[in-house]
Amino acid sequence: MKFKLVVLLLATVLLTAGCAEKTINDKNADDHIQTYVKNSTYPELEIETEIGEYDTYKYAIHFPRSKQENINKVIKQLVTAQKEDFIQAAMKVTPKKDSFSELLLDYKVTNISDTLLSIAFTHNENIYGQESKKQVYTVNFDRKSGKPITLTDLFTDDTSLQKLARLSQNVILQDPKAMKLSNVSDVMDGTKPEIDTFNAFSFSNTTMDIYLKEKQIGPKELGPYKIQIPLSDLNGILAKAYSDSLELKIPTETEILSKTTGGKENKPPKSALTPGVKYVALTFDDGPHHQLTPRILDILKKHQAKATFYVLGNRVEYYPEIVKRTVDEGHEIGSHSWSHPKLTSLKPTELAQQINQTSNSIEKITGKPPATLRPPYGAVNDAVKRSIKGPIVNWSVDTLDWKHHNKEKVKQIVRQTTHDGSIILMHDIQKASADALEDIIVSLSKQGYHFVTVSQLLQLGDHPDRYVGKVYTNG
Ligand code: NI
Repeated sequence: MKFKLVVLLLATVLLTAGCAEKTINDKNADDHIQTYVKNSTYPELEIETEIGEYDTYKYAIHFPRSKQENINKVIKQLVTAQKEDFIQAAMKVTPKKDSFSELLLDYKVTNISDTLLSIAFTHNENIYGQESKKQVYTVNFDRKSGKPITLTDLFTDDTSLQKLARLSQNVILQDPKAMKLSNVSDVMDGTKPEIDTFNAFSFSNTTMDIYLKEKQIGPKELGPYKIQIPLSDLNGILAKAYSDSLELKIPTETEILSKTTGGKENKPPKSALTPGVKYVALTFDDGPHHQLTPRILDILKKHQAKATFYVLGNRVEYYPEIVKRTVDEGHEIGSHSWSHPKLTSLKPTELAQQINQTSNSIEKITGKPPATLRPPYGAVNDAVKRSIKGPIVNWSVDTLDWKHHNKEKVKQIVRQTTHDGSIILMHDIQKASADALEDIIVSLSKQGYHFVTVSQLLQLGDHPDRYVGKVYTNG
């Protein structure tokens, strides 16, 4: 784009956005530099513009000016540093006649309130003869103190960065557009839990946005990739006192709970799972267990992993609150019959009772019937297949936790037999599995695995929606 056109476009934007214009008599100004200040759509902010035109380089920079001098100082420092870096680089090259280097620095106010000011700057740079560069820089201010907010200011504790990285990875890995251009290992490499990776962040009213650098997670075409994380996912990651004082509307656990118990489906739309990314389904049978199930839920929550619990109807009766928590935290409930008989040896009426009584009792608590059935001992015949309005799900990785009672053995079996699409069988009444879980999640994560519910895994495997009566052992 020709520079004159850029300036013209910007002038149009400014004219539509602003009212009275005043030219600053900058003592450094010469014939090459023009500066303007205009009103913006925000009464408390003005737009300052500086346009520099030289033979070999041109720039236009725009930035907001508030009534708080300490905020202005930080912003001015940021834009001046970018301008000066550009000028230095531009002076080192000699463009051909009628060519020049250029910088366009523009900004967007992503959030402004009495407590928070969040700004994202887009830096577009073309140094003559070099590859163009686009990057987003951000500044966030606590408007009460006028102080800039850093990422570490916001964090609850030292696990926050890890969690933020994991959330970010999930967003990218589930973005089909990004994954078409990139691959899992480049994404994981570019989103390691390091402060520098997540430094450029801003807030909208509903999301935290993180801007990665060009080529950070894939080819240049991806641009400075923007990760949008719903504020509701940041519960426990951002320090509550801080987010409260910034008036970030992060829903509380109770608000999320009332939202998810409205009978709504928890599973993401089909497109949310990206083919080519490795997924496994962790499954836990024979619970709920009053101590181990909550412990397992805590570990899953800590690592943002989803799982499926095949519960026994007669235990659900005793622990409805655990079942409710399981669903509220995004996991899936499946049926494991009422009292764990071998279903293939039951009379039709007994079979119907085992299935229906369990379904009713689960639906009463969660608002919906179990998504799938896992028959005790994996025993299936035609009568069992006909008994349920959903798929039957067995397993491909058997941890044998009930046999060895040994967490190292559980880990070893998972390590040796898990592959993409595996359904891993554990028991939430077995301490060995609860003990092994965290190590399993950490080591599979490192290998690029993501943890989804059985229904999500079956969706991903592109199984027809009407999979009633089919038996699955894999995604
Ligand atoms: Ni069982």
